[in-house]
Amino acid sequence: GRAELARRIDALLRTVPDYPEPGVLFRDIMPLLADPDAFAEVVATFATDVPGPVDLVAGMEARGFLLAAPVAIALGAGVVPVRKAGKLPGPVATQSYALEYGSAAVEIQPSTIPDGARVLVIDDVLATGGTAAATVELLETCGATVVGLAFLVELEALGGRAMLPGRFVDSLLTLP
Ligand code: PRP
Repeated sequence: GRAELARRIDALLRTVPDYPEPGVLFRDIMPLLADPDAFAEVVATFATDVPGPVDLVAGMEARGFLLAAPVAIALGAGVVPVRKAGKLPGPVATQSYALEYGSAAVEIQPSTIPDGARVLVIDDVLATGGTAAATVELLETCGATVVGLAFLVELEALGGRAMLPGRFVDSLLTLP
């Protein structure tokens, strides 16, 4: 069940202090991806716990790509890579968002999103929610309907869920 899956994910996460910079506690999902059974169970759970039909699965660069693609296959959906600025050939749509210091931006190719497409958003970690909120805004500006968001890990203390009011937000593991 879900509780057992959460324990399994927790056991496979590697927590790295002061990476990529001092003061950050990095959650490394690579050991989980390298475990065939755990990876398959994560993908199957994402594909099962979806709030309705999905045409496209959007995954955020870079670790979100690794989860979005197999979930899309499982759902019979396509993939939309949500990339950091400057990585996709145009035309692109861009959404900036605030970081603690400065800002960042995400981009997609609107030509790959049919009007009214039902999109599931998937990423490895929900932290401050800046990336996820910008992704939702970007997709809906391009005419998509975001049916929900799913994360492997939610870092509750960083408050990301509050950036996604009224949204279906599913996290396989919630850490305080
Ligand atoms: C991480 C993570 C999410 C985002 C979450 O990506 O994979 O995409 O940060 O943070 P937020 O909720 O505070 O926005 P990162 O920027 O490290 O990109 P990478 O996967 O390309 O290394």
